[in-house]
Amino acid sequence: MSKIKTAWFCSACGAKASKWIGCCPSCGEWNTYQEEVIQRTERYDLPVGKKQTIAAPVAVQQIENADNARVATGSVELDRVLGGGLVAGSLILVGGEPGIGKSTLMLQIALRCKGLRVLYVSGEESAEQIKMRADRIGISNEHCYILNETSLENVLLHLDSFAPQMVVIDSIQTLNTSFIDSSSGSISQIRECASILQQWCKSANVPVFLIGHITKDGSIAGPKLLEHTVDAVLYFEGDRNYGYRILRSMKNRFGSTNELGIFEMQHNGLREVHNPSEILISHRDEPISGVAITTVMEGMRPLLIEMQALVGTAAYGTPQRSATGFDVRRMNMLLAVLEKRCGFRINTKDVFLNVAGGLRVDDPVADLAVVCAILSSSVDIPLGQKDCFAGEIGLSGEIRPVNRIEMRIAEAEKIGFDRIFVAKHGIKNLSDRFGIEIIPVVKVDEIAKKLFR
Ligand code: TYD
Ligand code: MG
Repeated sequence: MSKIKTAWFCSACGAKASKWIGCCPSCGEWNTYQEEVIQRTERYDLPVGKKQTIAAPVAVQQIENADNARVATGSVELDRVLGGGLVAGSLILVGGEPGIGKSTLMLQIALRCKGLRVLYVSGEESAEQIKMRADRIGISNEHCYILNETSLENVLLHLDSFAPQMVVIDSIQTLNTSFIDSSSGSISQIRECASILQQWCKSANVPVFLIGHITKDGSIAGPKLLEHTVDAVLYFEGDRNYGYRILRSMKNRFGSTNELGIFEMQHNGLREVHNPSEILISHRDEPISGVAITTVMEGMRPLLIEMQALVGTAAYGTPQRSATGFDVRRMNMLLAVLEKRCGFRINTKDVFLNVAGGLRVDDPVADLAVVCAILSSSVDIPLGQKDCFAGEIGLSGEIRPVNRIEMRIAEAEKIGFDRIFVAKHGIKNLSDRFGIEIIPVVKVDEIAKKLFR
């Protein structure tokens, strides 16, 4: 019997080594190397029935424009993330934590793609389970077929005989090829299965979606490993306590990576959210203090977000400072600015900050809204319900301009706000086509006087 060959792979980035290493020289992670059996029992030939031809160099002018006709997937949000639709022959990885809704999303897309023969290969759930899910989603499509299979060789045979026009593999971790001895889900299996599927996808010119699980720290062998093999990497993420899910593009050979799609998980599948700002802002009849709205950018999409603050007298010696969805160090900096530049006595107060909707805000544009929410709660005077704030705050209390201010203003106007407070220096070249009142501000103390005179 021939000797079994093994190699060591980094479970974080997939780098290969001939022996165990403590710290990965490729990604710098510690203790991530695992031994994998890589012996191939025989030379592998694709059962695709197509002989590989040897490519010759071609001058770039002579290459004909590929017919990149895009197919609409039936989901406006997914089409947007893909850059305007599905490109034939593209291999797309959909990654995300277990239970976030990847299978639901892809089944829904498979059912919505009317007119295409879709093959949904599942190694995770039985056909009956998928049928139950399809009933729950409530879309019928006679061209959507389910295959319960984990052997890659069998899947390839079906792909050739069935000739689908779109394929979903759920998930790449459950597939295995008999040409590698290690168990399914191991690094070498995932890598090999993905590269064989990539060859099939390119030769048959059919789009293939690969679903891949990823843990919270992204450490388990999986999607990260495949990022360079596939044409596009989409991440499906969200807080499980809230219904919102964001589909984000991390890599896209056929479009921009700035786009994102927003969905809401409901009892009957995922609903597309075309106007996210409206659901992220709470609607109240009575104005309350400590609430300010800002316009953050998520990729290329402006979103209106509600910042909520609660300021109270500290019950204990050291006041509490806590923030949910916002960097607490940044909040402390803003409190110091308020103390020093506006003369607000806030160092004996408890301050709690929350971003409504369970979102996380990293955009510095939220500074102005945070300060206004804190001031409003501190003096217990509500801000105008039709006011919106967009500006970064510097250490000297100056309000600094932010990027893409026109898009932010336009979104605030679209949602129906009457006034937006922005940095004076950021609106010099602004066109005067806006119907919303734009109020330029320079300093934090100035806005405090304007709002709470
Ligand atoms: P699932 O697609 O199985 O997640 P993944 O494939 O990423 O592991 O979705 C899991 C969750 O979605 C599950 O907890 C149930 C919930 N869900 C709904 O809330 N509504 C629905 O209509 C469906 C189909 C699932
Ligand atoms: Mg699943």
